Amino acid sequence: MIKTYDVVIIGAGGAGLRAAVEIPKEYSCAVISKVFPPRSHTGTAQGGVCAALGNMEEDSWENHAFDTVKGSDYLGDQDAIEVMCQDAVRAIIELEHMGMPFSRNEDGKIAQRKFGGHTKPADPADPYGKRIPVMRACYSADRTGHVMLQTLYENCIKNQVSFFSEYFVTQLLVENGVCSGVVAMDISTGEIHTFHAKAVVFATGGYGRAFQITSNAHVGTGDGTNLVYRAGLPLEDMEFFQFHPTGLWRLGILVSEAARGEGGILKNKDGERFMQKYAPTVMDLAPRDMVSRAIITEIREGKGIRGSDGTDYVLLDVSHLGKKVIDEKLPEITGFARTYLGVEPTKEPIPIQPTAHYAMGGIPTDIDGRVFANEKGDIIKGFYAAGECACVSVHGGNRLGTNSLLDIIIFGRRSGKAVAEFIKTADYSPLPENTEEQTRKEIEALKTSTGKESILNIRTELQVMMMNKCGVFRNEKELKEGIEELKQLKERYKNISIQDKGNIFNTDLMEAIELGNLLDSAEATLYSAENRQESRGAHTREDYTNRDDENWMKHTFITKANGSEPKITYKPVVITRYKPMERKY
Ligand code: FUM
Repeated sequence: MIKTYDVVIIGAGGAGLRAAVEIPKEYSCAVISKVFPPRSHTGTAQGGVCAALGNMEEDSWENHAFDTVKGSDYLGDQDAIEVMCQDAVRAIIELEHMGMPFSRNEDGKIAQRKFGGHTKPADPADPYGKRIPVMRACYSADRTGHVMLQTLYENCIKNQVSFFSEYFVTQLLVENGVCSGVVAMDISTGEIHTFHAKAVVFATGGYGRAFQITSNAHVGTGDGTNLVYRAGLPLEDMEFFQFHPTGLWRLGILVSEAARGEGGILKNKDGERFMQKYAPTVMDLAPRDMVSRAIITEIREGKGIRGSDGTDYVLLDVSHLGKKVIDEKLPEITGFARTYLGVEPTKEPIPIQPTAHYAMGGIPTDIDGRVFANEKGDIIKGFYAAGECACVSVHGGNRLGTNSLLDIIIFGRRSGKAVAEFIKTADYSPLPENTEEQTRKEIEALKTSTGKESILNIRTELQVMMMNKCGVFRNEKELKEGIEELKQLKERYKNISIQDKGNIFNTDLMEAIELGNLLDSAEATLYSAENRQESRGAHTREDYTNRDDENWMKHTFITKANGSEPKITYKPVVITRYKPMERKY
């Protein structure tokens, strides 16, 4: 069945909804999501969205831009970073006017808190010298993503956007550099639909579910990135996957950096505030790559605490902040600690460990969300991407906390605006022949397979392998082993079968397709990581311990090559005003 819309947006998280708000009512706009929109992963974002409002202390967008460039370990494209940081203040006020209920300071202005890597010069006359933490994160207690998502959803309803909730996209229709739509399955009935569109926007989120310990919701299976990869298009900087330092031990559920922004302290088993050794100036508020490395180093040196199951953790102590601050500013995360670990954070520290959190890499785009067909900068007509699935690249090798909610509202809006302009003159491109055939065949093959391999086993083995061989620390031997294991997992995947042969809410079938997406996302990550022989941001190679600007100041573009190893090419990093320097905190 063919459905026709001027614009089809895949993904109902912050980036997708922010783009949808920009499409004028006289055009038809559909948002397709595999979950009910307010259940999208943006809703789990906790600590804040940053902008140099200067509500609590003096700040500037230039401070923010410099921090973002330095935080990215100089891999972020500086033109895009300048656009984002300069526009951040306007974007926050706009959200406030859309109805987002921010927490307030005593003057009634939007409240702001400290976050890792967000700084200002200790001496204004020496902007690139010693820098100290600054209050830049705007927040709604520790539910910032949740309220942002609700606000954007309400604004989409107001804008008469059509929602296709619980539809699962299975094909991206791209031919000869032109995008004409997508194919999707209605999860509630199993019916297959072609969505014919003048413009398609991917806002499909990340793939943290490829790792054993992750803060990502179950939806984070890299569906969009994989459809692009499978279409023979490149993915950018897939080796850069962020581990958030503080996931709840064993579960990975996010314990917001806001806890440290409010004054929480990381401690090892001896009660030592170990971050003073690793980042003497900003300590617990160093960027995430550094804090995650510090935690794993402490654990490797025997300074972690051994849990009942033999795994190790360190402690996040917020007890000294007092009940009032905890209840008002950190209610959600302290609730998680109580519910899932039985710990009372007002009295005792919270067991934590690094958790796979965020893909810095993804679908390469320009600053208006237009998807690149290659490293030379050719564009796929009618195809846009924004949010975590995209790589603009503003986060480079390591994203600063609170820059992801900012990224989705800045580049979601810019993509929406670019699409609105494009559809004024664009026509519908012809659909490829038999659009739905591939999806129907794949689904039929899964339903009729009598293979003996289990989806659960392959997924678990993938997640353990990615955690052990492609985690916070990496080396050639383990990455090569990871690639070999992945090849075997992909072979075994060809032999899976599903129990549910029906059409209605067949989650068995969805999990099978999602596993295929996770395997391909992992492939792009492992090959890109094995290829990059340096340490930069979240990509820490034990066998190449230094950053190597001479050889590696470039973005990786990885493309699937059927039947052989993926192909890697490069794109230069855009440097405007910030010359690469040593990264010290
Ligand atoms: O720690 C946090 O609240 C996470 C924020 C982020 O990833 O931007």
